[in-house]
Amino acid sequence: MRGTVPPDPLVSATLGARWFDAMMRRRAREIAARSGLAAALPREGLLLDIGAGLGHLAEAVLAEAPGRRCLGLDPRWSPPAPLAARLRAQMPGRLGWIRGDGMAIPLAEGAVDGVWIAFVLHHLPPDTQRAVLAEARRVLRAGGVFALLEDTPRDGAERARTERADRRLNFEPADLPHHYRAPGEWPALLAAAGLSERRRVSFRRIFPPASLRPVQHTGYICAG
Ligand SMILES: C[S@@+](CC[C@H](N)C(=O)[O-])C[C@H]1O[C@@H](n2cnc3c(N)ncnc32)[C@H](O)[C@@H]1O
Repeated sequence: MRGTVPPDPLVSATLGARWFDAMMRRRAREIAARSGLAAALPREGLLLDIGAGLGHLAEAVLAEAPGRRCLGLDPRWSPPAPLAARLRAQMPGRLGWIRGDGMAIPLAEGAVDGVWIAFVLHHLPPDTQRAVLAEARRVLRAGGVFALLEDTPRDGAERARTERADRRLNFEPADLPHHYRAPGEWPALLAAAGLSERRRVSFRRIFPPASLRPVQHTGYICAG
């Protein structure tokens, strides 16, 4: 959900529509289950979703375990009013929101039990990717769980397909750059931030289909 869009009335109406909410909920449930994210995170305690977008993935993770609470951090998005109202009614007090940047998270060292970053880092240049991973490590308690979910095209054709799908799904302007990495490239960055990979999960064909041929995604489950 990165781009220029909030003032566009058509996009704003779409983000608040029930059909869009239903589509995003299904997408988030599939991602949380098929990436291993929902199962890997601690079932109790405070979690942090960096680049949480509209909040659907946080909702899917919270729905799996009543002992979880979560903060969603995002520099420009938050749940649209109908979703915020639904979350307040269905999981009162369990999802909070921070308007902020992943490079400077306003939380103390070791403040959270689990952190994830889903489909955010390929929108950021390499130095910013490193800075956000270092911040994620800083706020994660010792022994906590970190997860990175990314689009991970393996060659030029897959990269072009991934970029087309990204632009469609996120209402992106055509000139927005992407900084994808192949599946084998992320672990070195994770290790440099002090996050050691424990499990890697490849997944494809997440709803809704945004390209005819599937796009490759990878989940990296790490220990802090
Ligand atoms: C493609 S969306 C992914 C949203 C959500 N994680 C999901 O999987 O549905 C990318 C998100 O990253 C956020 N973002 C961009 N730069 C960021 C930064 N420096 N720190 C934290 N979030 C950022 C954007 O605002 C946007 O909500």
